Amino acid sequence: MRLVQVGVRGMGNHWVGVGRRSGEVEVAGYVDVVPAHLEQLQQEHGVPASACYGALGEALAAVRPDGVLCIVPPQFHRDVAVQALRAGCHVLTEKPLADTWERCVEMAAEARRAGRVLMVGQNYRYSRPVQTLRRVIRDGGLGRPGQVAVHFFKGPHFGGFRDQMPHPLIVDMSIHHFDMMRYILDADPVSVYAQSWNPQWSWYRGDASATVLFEMRRADAGGDRPIRVTYTGSWCANGAGTPWNGEWRVLCDDGCAMLRDDHVLIQRRDGQPWEEVPLDPLPRGGQDHLLHEFVAAVREGRAPETSADDNLKSIAMVFRTVASIESGRPVAVE
Ligand SMILES: NC(=O)c1ccc[n+]([C@@H]2O[C@H](COP(=O)([O-])OP(=O)(O)OC[C@H]3O[C@@H](n4cnc5c(N)ncnc54)[C@H](O)[C@@H]3O)[C@@H](O)[C@H]2O)c1
Repeated sequence: MRLVQVGVRGMGNHWVGVGRRSGEVEVAGYVDVVPAHLEQLQQEHGVPASACYGALGEALAAVRPDGVLCIVPPQFHRDVAVQALRAGCHVLTEKPLADTWERCVEMAAEARRAGRVLMVGQNYRYSRPVQTLRRVIRDGGLGRPGQVAVHFFKGPHFGGFRDQMPHPLIVDMSIHHFDMMRYILDADPVSVYAQSWNPQWSWYRGDASATVLFEMRRADAGGDRPIRVTYTGSWCANGAGTPWNGEWRVLCDDGCAMLRDDHVLIQRRDGQPWEEVPLDPLPRGGQDHLLHEFVAAVREGRAPETSADDNLKSIAMVFRTVASIESGRPVAVE
């Protein structure tokens, strides 16, 4: 499969390596609006200048790719994806699908109209700890989950678009954790109630800290009560950080599962010893898995696991959280 990658610094630099080692794709063109970023790409990865373009339109005309990798800041995802889809390309975009709900819906509709794959890079699903925690919950040995607590604390100084976003934690980071909630619990959101704030030492313009309460329901829940999930996070934590996956406690009928320091632990009753669960094997992790799944979905003419249509349920959790923060009220998640 012949690809063009849009955005080559930051996460784009990581994707260059992913494309090169994949063996399933040929990334035949690279696009960036900053010429110095394309020069760095040539120096660091030995990419020829002839494969570098300043605009997506030029690359589409010259390379005629089957697919486009969109690795630019969220406010540009819609423009890149829609242009690529209209040119007949399949698209794999970094998360979040887009920076507004309306743009997300527009992109998913455009992909349906074009009959092309539009996939979202929810790479946090594809790590051994997350796969293992999901399997432990799905196996049902602990009974059904009823209460979940997720904590996430980090203090990265990225600079760039995140420092200017109105809701940097919720829109650019928590999308991973909200998508993981759906994936690990096999449940979809029903409602959300949230507050956010910006601690006095924060270096972000928008709120970097939040507490969110989701009510979620499993597809096979029947008359079960909804699962309550509390999420407390900060993206300006000075110390006491968690792993990127966060720390999870999943309380079930007959015990509790934990994700702590990326280890999966279970306890069958309070006071009993914790048991560490060996991590499940995973042939390809993170972005390597995403690219493989993208190629497989295109070849097999099926939707990928993290298609835009599926992702609308995860990104709805993000934008309904923002709606609850801004209104000060609980809101339904459709
Ligand atoms: N999945 C993950 O774990 C993960 C981690 C980091 C970033 N991301 C996502 O990756 C995306 C990019 O983030 P980043 O941190 O790499 O940003 P960045 O600002 O560091 O880099 C973006 C690159 O895109 C280029 N660019 C910007 N607008 C462009 C346009 N319209 N056309 C072509 N090139 C353009 C910039 O010049 C730069 O080279 C975001 O959606 C972000 O949320 C995902």
